Amino acid sequence: RNLLHKQLTGERIIVVSNREPYIHTRKGERIEVHRPASGLVTAVEPVMRACSGTWIAHGSGTADMEASDRHDRVPVPPEHPEYTLRRIWLSKEEENGYYYGFANEGLWPLCHIAHVRPIFRSSDWEKYQAINQRFADAVVKEADSDNPVVLVQDYHFALLPGMIRAALPKATIITFWHIPWPNPESFGICPWREELLKGMLGSTILGFHTPFHRKNFLETVDRYLETRIEHESSTVTHNGKLTMVESYPISIQWPPPWQERQPTVEECRAGLRQELGAAPDHKVGIGVDRLDYTKGILERFRAVEKLLELHPELQGNFTFVQIAAPSRSALDDYQAFDAQVHNLALRINQRYSSGSWKPIVLKAEHHEPEVVNRYYRGADVCVVTSLHDGMNLVAKEFVASRDDEQGGLVLSQFTGAAHELHEALVVNPYHIEQTAQALHRAVNMPDLEQRERMRSMRALVRDFNVYRWAGRMLLDAARVRQREKLSARIR
Ligand code: G6P
Repeated sequence: RNLLHKQLTGERIIVVSNREPYIHTRKGERIEVHRPASGLVTAVEPVMRACSGTWIAHGSGTADMEASDRHDRVPVPPEHPEYTLRRIWLSKEEENGYYYGFANEGLWPLCHIAHVRPIFRSSDWEKYQAINQRFADAVVKEADSDNPVVLVQDYHFALLPGMIRAALPKATIITFWHIPWPNPESFGICPWREELLKGMLGSTILGFHTPFHRKNFLETVDRYLETRIEHESSTVTHNGKLTMVESYPISIQWPPPWQERQPTVEECRAGLRQELGAAPDHKVGIGVDRLDYTKGILERFRAVEKLLELHPELQGNFTFVQIAAPSRSALDDYQAFDAQVHNLALRINQRYSSGSWKPIVLKAEHHEPEVVNRYYRGADVCVVTSLHDGMNLVAKEFVASRDDEQGGLVLSQFTGAAHELHEALVVNPYHIEQTAQALHRAVNMPDLEQRERMRSMRALVRDFNVYRWAGRMLLDAARVRQREKLSARIR
């Protein structure tokens, strides 16, 4: 946090993302506020609170309200305001084309190797361009100088850096791509690949989670654009403009926000077992995801089934609780996935249930972060089986929640987090028996081994927290600006 302040001395930053950090919805006469399930929001919100400034996002909750009621510009967090949330409203048609269509039926499956074929429609692409321009105009309006610091978030805004650069040539634009970047062949199927790449290269800094995604991006640029790439300094020059392309593994706030006011681990354990109607020594696994086909939830349930098959002594003595926040439910692929998840849980439960016990408890609804934290603290093992994931902050949140230094983490090798949390039990989620064995190992792990593993994972999340992530990008941006200044003088 201090490092961030030093980087920013007196500057207000502008963050742009599709998802807003607080959603206001009307319930009768009252307005309720909740925090969405989004790794992006989890990571960026503490940075924004530390820096202050303006966060521009797509207004999602209050769309059905009267215009006067809509809270276009709200001070947040509600209980203790530290920055301004500026909402951009989209019509149904705009949301369908830009968000559901191009971003989530096109770019999302394009970048995750999850075997869902991307859909690219010209009409969605038109909306995507128009909405990127709308957000660029909002940035220009919010900027109080000709060289603001703008943090552009994720695949909803690939064109935004180029658009901001055209209007504010001196801006410092830091773009972070929160999802994986595929290889050039895969990315190349997008009909507008050149436009997307050029837009992104409007950035001063372009960040990915892992060196592998960074390398894929550089190879993609090399394949499809005329640029100069300097591998040593990891920079790309396109039309005379230099962009630094680096990997910055994202993280979470440390210490965790609820550290002071959370129930003890004992209370969380007892509460969870009471909720399940289970004995105090009952083993519990937890999964926390958006209901998304990239998260490997079906593979995970099959691993739980295999676990019970291979280790019958766990039947009646182990429950897997899956929290699954509904997500993008307007899309066919998400509705189909939702049905598959429910059906598989039902089938496995029918196979193994006895008395009041069932092996899988599926909670397919939104849970506020504090509530999720209590589940993390009450569980014996947390399971992350993404088929492909930029970072996966659930793994880091679980580790941060366990100040008792207990609990096992089963983690997919296809997450960015697996490159950092080496003490997790790393699995290939497509290998059901391997995942089942890792689960078995986690629930039977001696306390001492749990402690050793958890301690070292906690040290990593503590030292490489989200302030460090943002601080490193700002520091690199300052270097690029300095380099540009010097080369302008030499010329
Ligand atoms: C991923 C994306 C974020 C997005 C989040 C939730 O983490 O990288 O940009 O906000 O999923 O998805 P949603 O579509 O609900 O915002």
